[in-house]
Amino acid sequence: MTDRYAVFGNPIGHSQSPRIHSLFAAQTGQDMSYQAILAEKEGFVAAVSAFIAAGKGPARGANVTVPFKAEAFRLATRRTPRAEAAGAVNTLSFDNGAISGDNTDGAGLVRDLKHNLGCDPAGRRILLLGAGGAARGVILPLLLENPAELVIANRTEETAARLALEFARLPGCAVGAKPDGTGFGGLAGRQFDLVINATSAGLSGAVLPLPTSVFAPRCVAYEMVYGRATPFMQQAGAAGARVADGLGMLVEQAAEAFFIWRGVRPHTAQVLAALNERA
Ligand code: ATR
Repeated sequence: MTDRYAVFGNPIGHSQSPRIHSLFAAQTGQDMSYQAILAEKEGFVAAVSAFIAAGKGPARGANVTVPFKAEAFRLATRRTPRAEAAGAVNTLSFDNGAISGDNTDGAGLVRDLKHNLGCDPAGRRILLLGAGGAARGVILPLLLENPAELVIANRTEETAARLALEFARLPGCAVGAKPDGTGFGGLAGRQFDLVINATSAGLSGAVLPLPTSVFAPRCVAYEMVYGRATPFMQQAGAAGARVADGLGMLVEQAAEAFFIWRGVRPHTAQVLAALNERA
């Protein structure tokens, strides 16, 4: 019987995950189905239960996207350290009533940087913009790559300071740089080799008040949003940075989930190329 998987979100109509996972499954010869499920805002747990209960083959796992990642975290009966650090779960595995929760977003970002963009975070001065869920999800994986420094800058300075302190205290963060938190005003005169936009500003078209000087020569500017040219991408490009959007992270976080579920690592390059062709 075919193993069943799904992605839960609200909205979910534009999710690329079913396409990505069916390409992975075809490439690796895995017998599985993957569907997108729109859960009611108050109905996430019920939707997951219904998915597990109904259907022809066994339900093996699920991806979780906005706005349910915190709820998925609570639903999981056990969680990986990176999910604990993120405070959010995007990958669930079902096994005889147990629900395991993981978070593959940070690993997806790191893999996209290292393998697709040739930008190893090790030894780099990293600036992470934003202090919400998207930023939180990538901090531990970035720190574990041993950057020279990691500065978290946020519109609300206090949130960045709190987040930095929390991660500086985390036992797993004893390696590499301790993160630092600041407001955008604290960036004047500072330079970075990798600038990652984890704010949601791009979705509303808002311009971030970034000094041009933050983009060091040969800087890579990474926008977590994909499918549109955001003001951050335009700013960074104008300052001479090499610009990437979050499509690679989307594919790589999916590949990491696929690996957790199936024990096989799909080749992402051809899937990324197929998605780019469509964009
Ligand atoms: P997500 O899960 O996408 O991270 P979130 O938790 O709501 O969403 O966080 C949104 C992030 O984008 C926050 O860091 C937010 O800054 P504040 O903490 O000051 O609210 C940031 N953000 C959103 N719109 C912004 C804008 N126009 N300018 C600067 N930062 C913005």
